[in-house]
Amino acid sequence: MRVQVAIIGAGPAGLLLGALLHRAGIDAVLVEQRSAEYAPGRIRASVLEQTTVDLLDAAGVGERMHHEGLLHDGIELCFGGARHRIDLKKLTGGKHVMVYGQTEVTRDLMHARDAAGLKTIYEAEHVSLQDFDSARPRVRYQQAGATHEIECDFIAGCDGFHGVSRASVPASAIQIHEKVYPFGWLGLLSETPPVSHELIYSNHERGFALCSMRSLHRSRYYLQCPIDDKVEAWSDEAFWAELRRRLDPEAAESLVTGPSLEKSIAPLRSFVAEPMRFGRLFLAGDAAHIVPPTGAKGLNLAASDVGYLSRALAEFYAGSETGIAHYSDRCLRRIWKAERFSWWFTSLMHRFPETGAFGQKLQAAELDYLVHSTAASTALAENYVGLPLRD
Ligand code: FAD
Ligand code: DHB
Repeated sequence: MRVQVAIIGAGPAGLLLGALLHRAGIDAVLVEQRSAEYAPGRIRASVLEQTTVDLLDAAGVGERMHHEGLLHDGIELCFGGARHRIDLKKLTGGKHVMVYGQTEVTRDLMHARDAAGLKTIYEAEHVSLQDFDSARPRVRYQQAGATHEIECDFIAGCDGFHGVSRASVPASAIQIHEKVYPFGWLGLLSETPPVSHELIYSNHERGFALCSMRSLHRSRYYLQCPIDDKVEAWSDEAFWAELRRRLDPEAAESLVTGPSLEKSIAPLRSFVAEPMRFGRLFLAGDAAHIVPPTGAKGLNLAASDVGYLSRALAEFYAGSETGIAHYSDRCLRRIWKAERFSWWFTSLMHRFPETGAFGQKLQAAELDYLVHSTAASTALAENYVGLPLRD
């Protein structure tokens, strides 16, 4: 098979890139190791920045999102037994975020891909990347025992943190920056109305808690938990009791509980691999960087990377190499700002066993400052709704 771009991974980064390239008249194939049923089943992010919404619209997949997604004009910070609203809209001159699950984004992109008759190779085994330092890269994979090869102009490595693309780059060509946090997030999804119409981020002496949602009748809650906790050790009852303890009395009182549809524990990590281009291989999304989830930047960064990449490739086929030359630097400027914000918001909202009483006093002072200073709450708001895409 011969295509212009071979995309490794059919997560949100790979699928969105495929859709944007299709709109630009560039021919691409997606190579995914899992089945078509697996990806939409993963419960992950839900907060979309305006830039992500714009890219989904540009890819022609925004219709259901605008119909079913929830526009949020604010978030609430809970500490010291009370909630404080951050008015995102007022503080950012009218911006907001869209709450619409990654599961749904993935589903919409997959439907659009199928409807346009675009090719995705699912259940591809032993995917390997060849000759991306030449003008004729190739992707090899096995399926049902047979080996196949794709010849292409470019490879887009959109295969997530554990994928093969970053691992194919020689260690001497790549620089890794990493921080692992000493706790995890225990998440629970339930068919219950959200406790509040906006998200609540809670700093509590027992640990962080987050009240989020997928719709007006489906809720997503998270609890900071020890990194070595096992999800089986958490009954639904234990989860709800612990969540109640970490909320203000009014929220605790109005919390509607129900059986969990899903429960899982995720580790927290900050990670950046630099650069993001190696000859004719580009990394995008979680393949190149991870943020701790506080502030919901992971999916949004994956979207902005492929926004830059689709534009750079369109420019290449129109005769200019400027876009691909600047791809890595453009992405990394935005990524490091999101890394900083996610690290800061994580540090502010979680209990860190090692920082002791001094660390907690500093957190309390910063939270107090944050909700009473327009300058400080504006900095939170403009990062939360997403920094603008720069050229
Ligand atoms: P992925 O979604 O990881 O997709 C990569 C795809 O590549 C997958 O389909 C995978 O099967 C495929 N692949 C992997 N290896 C290969 C291979 N060798 N060959 C072919 N295909 C391969 N972000 C938030 O903003 N908020 C959250 O609450 C949140 N929660 C998260 C919880 C978890 C457990 C995880 C892991 C992430 C979470 N994130 C969250 C981050 C967010 O979901 C990611 O940033 C986003 O999924 C990145 O998309 P991606 O397409 O780059 O990578
Ligand atoms: C969700 C996850 C986040 O990390 C966040 O900051 C907000 C919402 C969520 O899964 O709904």
